[in-house]
Amino acid sequence: MTDRVKILVVNGPNLNMLGTREPEIYGAVSLDAIRKKCQAACETHGFAMKWTQSNSEAVLIDTIQAACNNFDWIIVNGAGLTHTSVALRDALALFNGKVIEVHLSNIYAREEFRHKSLITAIAEGAVVGFGANSYTMAIAAIAEMQREF
Ligand code: DQA
Repeated sequence: MTDRVKILVVNGPNLNMLGTREPEIYGAVSLDAIRKKCQAACETHGFAMKWTQSNSEAVLIDTIQAACNNFDWIIVNGAGLTHTSVALRDALALFNGKVIEVHLSNIYAREEFRHKSLITAIAEGAVVGFGANSYTMAIAAIAEMQREF
């Protein structure tokens, strides 16, 4: 049991409003529904998952710092902080596991200020634009990465 892969999913500001927040961009699925889908995907792969969301940058940073030595992967949707927060990026850079960035929307097909992510350069990779499936695709990517090619 101790060698189970442990994944922390970190969700940034306003993602608690998914389902009602700009559904034409983010879809009608709630964050809790995404959490349940991810939990099921993790169980399928035998991974342990912890799910977090905060509207506070400080709480997100504290959560990531506490993940050191306790998690193998962080899947992060930094939401608006993706484009602005050096501090969130620095917290992810000090994490001693691996990071996958996710976004529901295709940030590169949207306003120019969303085209720049401060997180991508310190992540293993990013899954963007597949709605709620971006999260489960990130879990599938971890499963692939755990296997020998
Ligand atoms: C988002 C994209 C960000 O630009 C935006 O600020 C969000 C959500 C996404 O998942 O598509 O809050 O991270």
